[in-house]
Amino acid sequence: MLNGKRILLIIGGGIAAFKALDLIRRLRERGASVTPVLTQAGGEFVTPLSVSALAGTKVYRDLFDLTDEAEMGHIQLSRSADLVLVAPATADLMAKMAQGMANDLASTLLLATDTPVMIAPAMNVRMWDHPATQRNLATLRGDGIAVIGPNDGDMACGEFGPGRMAEPLEIVAALEAKLAGGPLAGKRVLVTSGPTHEPIDPVRYIANRSSGAQGTALGTALAALGAEVVFVTGPADVPPPAGVQVVKVQTAQQMLEAVQTALPCDVAVFAAAVADWRVASASDRKLKKTRDGMPKLEFAENPDILAMVSQMAEGRPKLVVGFAAETDDVVENATAKRKRKGCDWIVANDVSPETGIMGGTENAVHLVSDAGVEDWPRMGKDAVAQQLAARIAAALK
Ligand code: CTP
Repeated sequence: MLNGKRILLIIGGGIAAFKALDLIRRLRERGASVTPVLTQAGGEFVTPLSVSALAGTKVYRDLFDLTDEAEMGHIQLSRSADLVLVAPATADLMAKMAQGMANDLASTLLLATDTPVMIAPAMNVRMWDHPATQRNLATLRGDGIAVIGPNDGDMACGEFGPGRMAEPLEIVAALEAKLAGGPLAGKRVLVTSGPTHEPIDPVRYIANRSSGAQGTALGTALAALGAEVVFVTGPADVPPPAGVQVVKVQTAQQMLEAVQTALPCDVAVFAAAVADWRVASASDRKLKKTRDGMPKLEFAENPDILAMVSQMAEGRPKLVVGFAAETDDVVENATAKRKRKGCDWIVANDVSPETGIMGGTENAVHLVSDAGVEDWPRMGKDAVAQQLAARIAAALK
């Protein structure tokens, strides 16, 4: 619930601004009050009248509005909220924020505020992927701004990919977690999840049976404790957690790049089942049957993302947690793996087919740390995730 919470909502100029109208309703349903600020560009997409009618209050638009200034100066406006939310956060607004510009009401409020700021980016996929936007994103994260979404999907411009604004209920969930002030509030946690797909040719790939269930459960549990979660996932069966930043990848190499972009963070949890090898030179054409017999696939080793992050000389996360999926000598192998990779904890599980763990809903894990080995009873993957998230929160205190 958001009872009594005051949200300053800055609505930027993008087609996703229409979702801000529903967002206002959802926030108010949960007891929050919403003070809306509509940028000039935002006003091209939704009318001040709709925003005002839904918020039940006036809409602020102009830095130099004498009436507004007399009633409530812009500095006061920027500080009169429990949280400032920018939705949609356009590429332009993010650039202004990253530069510290203050040339209109929205950017001035964002520069003057002393309350937490969250942004829900929305833009065309190429604009999102552009190095300038990614640089700005990194700067904003470094400034302590929490990022919600964007999601993958069909976009109003007809393209597909990351850039769609998170749905209103996902944004509300992220706000609730942030304002609840859980033990991981203000902490940035990276989670990798799901399998990777390593291409053989354009239609075939090497994969594994990971469903992504444990990773999604972990991302959800960490976000529920207030963490800002960046969720890097391969092609999983289970959808990613709501209200967190999701980065979708296919291959181990792409996962490494996404992880590097997501750093720095306070905690990194590597729940992904990363393929150890890729086909050395995947064909860009479909391999055909020939009279010469079967094709010979040569393999190359994939980067070990967990080991690379664990062994970072500078900027290593304070806590690095790996998973070990084993079929034999689970604890011995996991203990050796922790040393070899250099991570702080290993969550080890037995993925022999008879356990039903890989792709199932339950897990029986052993937590291996420098304090020794704890055997946890078999329980649901959600329960494992909640206990692990609680342990992570305790370790960061
Ligand atoms: N991992 C990773 N990058 C890789 C391989 C694994 O980040 N290229 C991470 C996994 O996310 C997991 C941990 O390393 O947290 C252990 O993965 P696992 O597959 O069990 O270990 P391997 O390195 O493959 O070791 P082995 O082949 O000896 O079992």
